[in-house]
Amino acid sequence: MKKIGLIIALFGVLWSCSEETYVPVEPQELVFETPANFPDVKYDLSANPLTDMGFELGKKLFYEGKLSSSGIISCGFCHEQSSGFTHHGHTISHGENGLEGFRNTQPIQNLAYFDEFTWDGAAIHLDLQPIIPITAEVEMNETMPSLLEKLRNSSEYPKLFNRAFGTPEINSERLLKALSQFMVMMVSSNSKYDKVVRQEENAEFTALEAEGYRVFNNKCASCHAGDLFTDQSYRNNGIPYNRKHPEEEGRKRVSGFESDFYKFKVPSLRNIEKTFPYMHDGRFGTLEAVLDFYSDGMVENGGEVDASLIKEDGALGIDLSTHDKEALIAFLLTLTDYEFLEDERFSEF
Ligand code: HEC
Ligand code: HEC
Repeated sequence: MKKIGLIIALFGVLWSCSEETYVPVEPQELVFETPANFPDVKYDLSANPLTDMGFELGKKLFYEGKLSSSGIISCGFCHEQSSGFTHHGHTISHGENGLEGFRNTQPIQNLAYFDEFTWDGAAIHLDLQPIIPITAEVEMNETMPSLLEKLRNSSEYPKLFNRAFGTPEINSERLLKALSQFMVMMVSSNSKYDKVVRQEENAEFTALEAEGYRVFNNKCASCHAGDLFTDQSYRNNGIPYNRKHPEEEGRKRVSGFESDFYKFKVPSLRNIEKTFPYMHDGRFGTLEAVLDFYSDGMVENGGEVDASLIKEDGALGIDLSTHDKEALIAFLLTLTDYEFLEDERFSEF
């Protein structure tokens, strides 16, 4: 049996060789390395071993318009590399037929280290997350059966699935695993900040950046914690209620608990310079506006504002001087990872 399989596989390779210039005989394992300053991976790599062919298939799918009903909207349409894989210029996402959702596109980076996804944690496995955009009317407006049919009928996908998974069968599990392989590899860990903490290339903070780092550790790191810059909890940070989107209830949409009203997953701040506009609804265009919100804009929003944001006198907010804000911004800009934003392994073209 094994021999027959091998012969068929060889035929497959020879056949594809006639059209492609270079075809490895079998998928090569991709090594996933955790940066020295990162926590343990949460994604179960043993259930979806990474290979070069799986990654390449995932990348092709990520930039594939066929994932949407119109054939135009790919994942990469909303998740643009130069903007930290967010949707440049859009406060809330817009997809098929120009329809709008009610949330700001999240970056795609370091997702192998998360176990819950989206602003409210509605997706509890990376492999399942893409079903939401593919099938949402306001995003890609497609159905899984119709999408799989399109891929099966294409001239190239059966071949690509064959290379990645050993047979040309196209099913949702394989589609989702390939997308995950691509996304799992998208690790942003080479910002100036990383080089400073890992003591690489003689990298050093400027005096202002170092001061910003101190302010950050005192006033922000309880939530934007560790080297992922999120403790991955859901918190209500006192952001004013947005009347334009009454359907938004934050984490309560998932848990049903009143106490979770307007709690959002603490976002990572990596590449924050590039991922504007900010917050779940993209209401702030600049980091200055975000910091002005933290010092002076926090309100009771109908939910339970995080206890750490209530001052001794009962007022809401974080005390930040003008100088603190300047220093904080200088520090936040050290989280920009140009290697990641320009990494050709992840780019569309
Ligand atoms: C129309 C724009 C749009 C398209 C197309 C789109 N996304 Fe997203 N993506 C979003 C928005 C908005 C969110 C935040 C969703 C939420 O919180 O409900 C998001 C969130 C995510 C997340 C969660 C990130 C995190 O940190 O939790 C992942 C992963 C993701 N998208 C992957 C994909 C993939 C894969 C595709 C293609 C199959 C895709 N997206 C297509 C707009 C889009
Ligand atoms: C109590 C927890 C908590 C603290 C403390 C906190 N944040 Fe946040 N932060 C959040 C949450 C939750 C959100 C998302 C809220 C939303 O989308 O409505 C957020 C959002 C942000 C964003 C927008 C990120 C994006 O991708 O849109 C920035 C920037 C930010 N915080 C910076 C800071 C800074 C700087 C400090 C310290 C001055 C700080 N935060 C303190 C919980 C916190």
